[in-house]
Amino acid sequence: MTSTFPNISISTERLVLRPFDEDDAPALAEMMNDEQVVAWTSVPHPCTEAHAHEWITRSAPGERTRGRGIVLAVTEFLTQRLVGIVHLKNTDRRIRSSEIAYVIAPWARGEGYASEATLAIAEWLFHDQKFERLELRTAAGNTASQQVAQKIGCISEGVLRNAWIARARTGNGSWTEVRTDVIVWSLLPEDLAGVGEQQADPDGFTSYPDWN
Ligand SMILES: CC(C)(COP(=O)(O)OP(=O)(O)OC[C@H]1O[C@@H](n2cnc3c(N)ncnc32)[C@H](O)[C@@H]1OP(=O)(O)O)[C@@H](O)C(=O)NCCC(=O)NCCS
Repeated sequence: MTSTFPNISISTERLVLRPFDEDDAPALAEMMNDEQVVAWTSVPHPCTEAHAHEWITRSAPGERTRGRGIVLAVTEFLTQRLVGIVHLKNTDRRIRSSEIAYVIAPWARGEGYASEATLAIAEWLFHDQKFERLELRTAAGNTASQQVAQKIGCISEGVLRNAWIARARTGNGSWTEVRTDVIVWSLLPEDLAGVGEQQADPDGFTSYPDWN
């Protein structure tokens, strides 16, 4: 088995998941400065365009080339707008397990995009890459992310106590760090039976080995 994921693009009914491009930096920075993203992720705050550029040109490609996972921009097929990010990380190729993290931009929430993107990458991971486990970790108070996990058929496995530091607004409007529990979820290939067919198009997977 090779030690890195291929450089891919995945098409769904409404989305294209593709490698980031330098032109995505302004929209990525805007998306990462959203309140919910600051609260529930470890993105630097404020996230400058320089941070976004560094992520696009170094950190994101490095995840793939170092064998840790893959980072894909989530874009709308019709408008080509950047609407999110999906990140496979902490990949263990021997166990054939990986962990997913996602963000959907505030201008594209409530459309089912997190579910559609996550299901598409899970289908690809299980069917194309023959993985056996996809893990998701949500901070205990992150209701939106837990709804996504439940909607796509993830099973909640338990609680990691004190395992994350979230951020919350203080009375004077600044951010403060808050230690929180984490819920661990997983999706296995058999959990996708029935769900995947409704949401993702397995024929839509497209490989662009010479993308860069
Ligand atoms: C979590 C997040 C990715 C959800 O994105 P989204 O595209 O709006 O989610 P979806 O539209 O796919 O929603 C899936 C389900 O969750 C529910 N949901 C979404 N946001 C919700 C919210 N704020 N509160 C309650 N339920 C919510 C939806 O109603 C939907 O269920 P339904 O189809 O039965 O109505 C988005 O809110 C986000 O980027 N948050 C900040 C970053 C973050 O927390 N990332 C996850 C870290 S683990």
